[in-house]
Amino acid sequence: MDDVRKILRNLSDAASERGAPLDWFEDLYDFAGKDSTFIPWSKGEPHPFLVDWMDEYAGREGSALIVGCGLGEDAVYLAEKGWNVTAFDLSESAIRWVKEMHAHHSISWEVGDLLKPNPTWIEKFDLVLEVHILQAIPEVFRIPASQNLAPLVGQGGQLICIGRMENPLNEIEVDGPPWPLERSFIQSIGQTLNPTDMYVVQYEEEEHLRYRAVWQRS
Ligand SMILES: C[S@@+](CC[C@H](N)C(=O)[O-])C[C@H]1O[C@@H](n2cnc3c(N)ncnc32)[C@H](O)[C@@H]1O
Repeated sequence: MDDVRKILRNLSDAASERGAPLDWFEDLYDFAGKDSTFIPWSKGEPHPFLVDWMDEYAGREGSALIVGCGLGEDAVYLAEKGWNVTAFDLSESAIRWVKEMHAHHSISWEVGDLLKPNPTWIEKFDLVLEVHILQAIPEVFRIPASQNLAPLVGQGGQLICIGRMENPLNEIEVDGPPWPLERSFIQSIGQTLNPTDMYVVQYEEEEHLRYRAVWQRS
């Protein structure tokens, strides 16, 4: 895993030096050559905080938008639970790869950019899910990207964001990506929606916190 992190860091530094700091995602998926051991965030299973949320709201289904879907574990999980899923990622290689792995009839895999979301997605989805995207992109992109999430949630729909959060008791400088997010930043993501859940936990082996934030459009 340390070797993979080194490759990731080299690709990320090189992309920043070229003046295209988000290009390293595509570079990494391309470099991986369809070997998922090179994709450090791909665990082959849905995020446990999403699974917990689904257990709590079992039976709910509708249309879901998965933002920055990567290798698609969360999208496949929701499709198997009966959701009608649109899953997009900035990386063309990731989308080509995930399409080959998971040709599920109720998932539409698309190349897309959270900085310029498809206008037809506005207020369209019952669930918008963001896992580990905002923490993986530099602040200059993170702030505008974060403001594009809430507008995609339809009437009565929910926005779920999952990721790392700064630990106020342990203010160390983090050399990301990923960068743990400030609580106030996380709260700003859904400021036009109603907050309904903020789950925070610290694992023993980690210095940062982990969060799941949920908002609803009423
Ligand atoms: C850390 S990975 C997380 C992937 C997936 N959500 C997961 O949890 O396994 C971040 C993902 O976001 C994608 N990404 C980065 N910037 C993006 C953007 N502006 N729009 C859409 N996807 C983006 C990357 O290509 C990458 O697949």
